[in-house]
Amino acid sequence: MMNNNPNKLDAQQLVAEFKDIPPMPNVMVKALSVIKNPATGIAELSKIMQIDQAIMAKTLSLVNSAFYGFRQQITSIQKALVILGMMKAKNIIMSLALKPMMTANGSRELWEHSIRCAVAAECLAKEYRIINPDDAFVIGFLHDIGKMLLNSKNPLKYSKVKYLAEQGNLKLTDVEDAQFGTNHCILGALVSKKWQLPVILTNCIRYHHDPLQSSLPSVCGIAYCADRLVQAKLPNPTLESTVMNKLDFSINDPIATRETLLAKANIFLKEMSGN
Ligand SMILES: [Fe+2]
Ligand SMILES: [Fe+2]
Repeated sequence: MMNNNPNKLDAQQLVAEFKDIPPMPNVMVKALSVIKNPATGIAELSKIMQIDQAIMAKTLSLVNSAFYGFRQQITSIQKALVILGMMKAKNIIMSLALKPMMTANGSRELWEHSIRCAVAAECLAKEYRIINPDDAFVIGFLHDIGKMLLNSKNPLKYSKVKYLAEQGNLKLTDVEDAQFGTNHCILGALVSKKWQLPVILTNCIRYHHDPLQSSLPSVCGIAYCADRLVQAKLPNPTLESTVMNKLDFSINDPIATRETLLAKANIFLKEMSGN
């Protein structure tokens, strides 16, 4: 899409302006490196988790929760990892490891929306067989990660941006562009690149509001739909027909789909939030 905003930062200015992208949390770095090698995976992953007591405790309580509904009580982390499988365990580690960063502004809004979106994307991917559901969870969870940078850059200004977009019924990315010279999609892709996440993930983060611009519109479309369907302030989800007509799947009843996805996502969120 053409950008007519004269204040919009070019690539170089962007990197200079947002040079303090936080590093990926250590536990997540380790978890990602371990799952590349399934042969040693479970034992290594359980060692990593034992270092982070909070993540380990939460994973154990999650695996014993109603969300998974396993019949027997699981008390060892190694057994929990075997039951969950490495990819799901890695996704739980990611969701918990990024929580402090995503809630650093004192608000849980971004983290909660990201969890809901992750579960929704996983469900949609399972139903429409567009992408591996565990990968869809990651895409859903990280899609708005760029908001973190705008928030830490200038929290007051960013709450004003969100307020302006909401009150004026404007596209959030347009208001971000006008006020910051960039938007959370571009910044999210920057974070994804810095963290050396897979290209497909960077692409989905970049185009989750505009999947037809992506080289993989239907994969990106999963993030687009998940995001719109679980929006807290959007009781009647709007999936644009110009977008939906070009994707490899269709959602016939967005309102019913929203209810199903939200119910599932809220159970998971409750278990993840605990306390
Ligand atoms: Fe977004
Ligand atoms: Fe979002």
